[in-house]
Amino acid sequence: MSRKMLVTSALPYANGPIHIGHLVEYLQTDIWVRFQKACGNTCYYFCADDTHGTPVMIRAKNEGTMPEELIARVHREHVQDFSDFQIAFDNYYTTHSEENRQLSERIYTGALKAGSIVKKTIQQAYDEQEQMWLPDRYIKGTCPRCRAENQYGDSCDVCGAHYQATELINPVSAVSGKPPILKESTHYFFKLSDYADALKKLFEAGYVQESVKNKLDEWFATGLKDWDISRDGPYFGFKIPGEENKYFYVWLDAPIGYMASCKNYCDRHGLDFEQVWNSGEYEIYHFIGKDIMYFHALFWPALLMAAKMRCPDKLFVHGFLTVNGQKMSKSKGTFITARTYLNHLDPQYLRYYYATKLSGDVGDIDLNVNDFVNRVNADLVGKLANLPSRSGPMLTKHLDGKLGRPDDSAADLLEELRHAKQAIVENYETLNYAAALRLICTLADKCNKYVEDHQPWALIKTDPEKTRAVLTAVLNAARLLTIYLKPVLPAFAEKMERFLNIPPLTFADTETTLENHVINNFERLIERMDQKKVDAMIEDSKQNTPPETTDTSAPSEATLEEPLAAECTIDDFMKVDLRIAKVVKASAVEGADKLLSLELDLGGLKRHVFAGISKAYKPEDLIGRLVVCVANLKPRKMKFGLSEGMVCAAGAGGSEVFLISPDPGAKPGQRVH
Ligand code: 2FM
Ligand code: ZN
Repeated sequence: MSRKMLVTSALPYANGPIHIGHLVEYLQTDIWVRFQKACGNTCYYFCADDTHGTPVMIRAKNEGTMPEELIARVHREHVQDFSDFQIAFDNYYTTHSEENRQLSERIYTGALKAGSIVKKTIQQAYDEQEQMWLPDRYIKGTCPRCRAENQYGDSCDVCGAHYQATELINPVSAVSGKPPILKESTHYFFKLSDYADALKKLFEAGYVQESVKNKLDEWFATGLKDWDISRDGPYFGFKIPGEENKYFYVWLDAPIGYMASCKNYCDRHGLDFEQVWNSGEYEIYHFIGKDIMYFHALFWPALLMAAKMRCPDKLFVHGFLTVNGQKMSKSKGTFITARTYLNHLDPQYLRYYYATKLSGDVGDIDLNVNDFVNRVNADLVGKLANLPSRSGPMLTKHLDGKLGRPDDSAADLLEELRHAKQAIVENYETLNYAAALRLICTLADKCNKYVEDHQPWALIKTDPEKTRAVLTAVLNAARLLTIYLKPVLPAFAEKMERFLNIPPLTFADTETTLENHVINNFERLIERMDQKKVDAMIEDSKQNTPPETTDTSAPSEATLEEPLAAECTIDDFMKVDLRIAKVVKASAVEGADKLLSLELDLGGLKRHVFAGISKAYKPEDLIGRLVVCVANLKPRKMKFGLSEGMVCAAGAGGSEVFLISPDPGAKPGQRVH
């Protein structure tokens, strides 16, 4: 009996790029959905951009654009990244949609009617200059514990202390740089504790994996607190019905975005949303990271209960990604965006590698770069792709590309391959992709051994028909392995289908044998992974540090991409002596990756400076060029010599550096006002 299901991944924020940390979840989900579809189940995969909240609002403001424009641009980027990683959503929508507004109002009104919404007056930080309320992440100051400066309002990056924003010493708004004031406002709260018993029942029915149950017990033990679901304007989000300047907190409408994406899909495909979400006909699953469990294990089902809507069947919770055993780091080049990855490497490598690491529990998974290269080359390229690569061309070149019947000598091997289906299906179903791939690789070893034992390249000289039978067996074995690999490697499978000249493979095709059948020319399935490309990707990630992706999960709400520096007076500014300078000499600096050594002429006055611009400019292109130089900067002794100034440039660094040059007519030595 085939099943019907609806599956989601967490909605990524619309204020930053997709990175390889995110991809753990999207790939984990995509593999599962593809597996379900390959088993003949109806399985819809829904997702959307999570678009509301302060970070999007502020980023748009900093970019001089409207939030709507920003989220539209990011949506396009996300869609492209996902599609290039072969992540196949049935619908990728946005939380900034009419469907989401209506569903949010419906759920809120349901909770109101159930008596689960209360109003409370609270005190909150407010930026008078910007006339906006400040989430903790937008307040900076000195850590009350270790006195480190420039720490966020919720925790200290230096000593790890957690505190209230009000405890910060000399707090300032990260938006205006001014000290915030405390101001009263009325907020709406959702009474989570009303649903404590119902939630316990849900967990007993298997809503979460066993391994995360302890965490839930801890939360129950500390008591379920009322949840603040409103924010005062200005705020980018949905207005609360009946209110002029109050909005739903981004985390209220974010999970409702799952439904909105589903509703949008249903409306466009002639399906009844109520039937799909609410009737129980479809199983509902959410894939999420462990950092957002509180929202999905408590708030979300409680809201649904309040609104008398169907709760999901289960959360599949995964751990974080580490790279070489550590948190992803921009300076180490391990904070790798999806786009940077795609600029250097085949997405199938990462699909495969993550699958070998994912076993369905909440442990973190590590991308060890050396292991990544070795594993992909040894197993994916060396074993799995190798099998058809060594047998396919022989059949097309020497035996008219025609399969016969599999040789009897392969009967046991093919039987073993078919028999493995049950275990592989169970492993996929329980998210233990690592075990599925281990089994698939063991089978591939046996198939490669069969080829070694039968030496078709020698046999063909004496017995072409026997060779045809051996190669037919090998290609049938490769076909079975392809069926098993297809959820992980859809592009690989597509190439195999083209080569074998067959319709898309499903798990049901393990029952059949491909015989007396003409196949097509062989196309290479996958290239070996090149360590140099991996190194280049890491180098690129060091240079192109993307804007900080903002985590709007509680309690933090955001970090600014590049907040404005503290205000300075005209007198402060006049202390900086900016001069037009001509580059008279430019050369690379041995041992320094990013620096160029520049000799500048400031109208007779000479300055020597080191500038971190070598990824963006060739020395020879700079000679004779006019630039702007900070001429009175105190000379600094650097590892490579003395730097007596600074040239002005914009951009994020690396290859993204743009020298500031005057219009024609400016003369070296002139002061810049
Ligand atoms: O943590 C995050 O990245 C959130 N944007 C996830 C939201 S998931 C769902 F609730 F919308
Ligand atoms: Zn501290």
